[in-house]
Amino acid sequence: MIDDRKILFSGMQATGNLTIGNYLGALKNWVKLTDEYECYYSVVDMHSITVRQDPTELRKRARKLLTLYIAAGIDPKKSILYYQSHVSAHAELAWILNCFTYMGELNRMTQFKDKSAKHADNINAGLFTYPVLMAADILLYQADVVPVGVDQMQHLELTRDLAQRFNSIYGDVFTIPEPYIGKVGAKIMSLQDPSKKMSKSDENPNASVYLMDDPDTIMRKFKRAVTDSEAVIKYRDEQPGIKNLIDIYSACTGLKPEDVEKEFYGKGYGDFKTAVGETVVSVLKPLQDRMKDLESNKDYIDGIIKDNAERAARTAEKTLRKVKKKIGYPEKIR
Ligand code: TYM
Repeated sequence: MIDDRKILFSGMQATGNLTIGNYLGALKNWVKLTDEYECYYSVVDMHSITVRQDPTELRKRARKLLTLYIAAGIDPKKSILYYQSHVSAHAELAWILNCFTYMGELNRMTQFKDKSAKHADNINAGLFTYPVLMAADILLYQADVVPVGVDQMQHLELTRDLAQRFNSIYGDVFTIPEPYIGKVGAKIMSLQDPSKKMSKSDENPNASVYLMDDPDTIMRKFKRAVTDSEAVIKYRDEQPGIKNLIDIYSACTGLKPEDVEKEFYGKGYGDFKTAVGETVVSVLKPLQDRMKDLESNKDYIDGIIKDNAERAARTAEKTLRKVKKKIGYPEKIR
């Protein structure tokens, strides 16, 4: 059967505990798009080592993340879920694309600047060329669309520039990918400082709600969320804490921000925070339950890891062969 669906690629780092930012900004949209597109969802463990990792911990987290993709509702028969490090074409294409990327382009990347400031003792070359590996991820699969949160837009623009540059030299090799940004939830902010995005690596545990947090912890974090003294529930930039809570509530319920304003018109912040907390608890509960079931089913997950990596490698190799030929690598003699 010919699969004429368009292609989608996305990935997440197996670093830290996933937050509701990762879920509402990315994973939730991934699930929605699995019927419409032929999807490749990677656990990008090669990206993770740009920051020093404990090996045992990294392996554990990578497996948890892959399991979480399934728990969130991605069907591994319909979509391809795999570890980036199991498909060596990623590293090979990244090297080639490195030779088409300018230092100035990488110097401009805000994530590089942020991460260098955070890990000043380990500003390694991998951290600098991180966006090139990300471009390789996407271009290897000839992805038409890449669902991400707003923070990844700059990397995606670089990917498009690299693809266009390569195509203008060698002809149509790569599909130019389009970003897919959800209408709500594309930038969930910290509960403790709503000017910063919610991040898995925040040192303050009250700033982020983790996907595996229990109900009491979730309720406590929302009760402590930083708001303001305006005492009105309005979706506007002057009230970043309340705006963020409305975003979270909207992303969980599917309601528009203006409908959330209406629902809570005249209500106090305490009531609103409780409602947001309860909604998040009810969204995460089925995911947490499925996670427990799947984690006890080792053979099932092992089978997916093996089959899916093979399927991903077949697609990736096809693009890589084409690229190698275009740039003039000598052919293998068989
Ligand atoms: P990562 O692992 O930091 O985040 C995974 C996804 O979650 C989104 N996200 C958020 N969305 C809304 N609000 C937030 N507070 C929030 N925090 C994170 C991210 O935008 C992302 O979509 N470089 C990527 C991983 C990657 C990738 C790729 C993504 C590697 N190769 C190819 C797409 C395509 C990253 O570090 O995401």
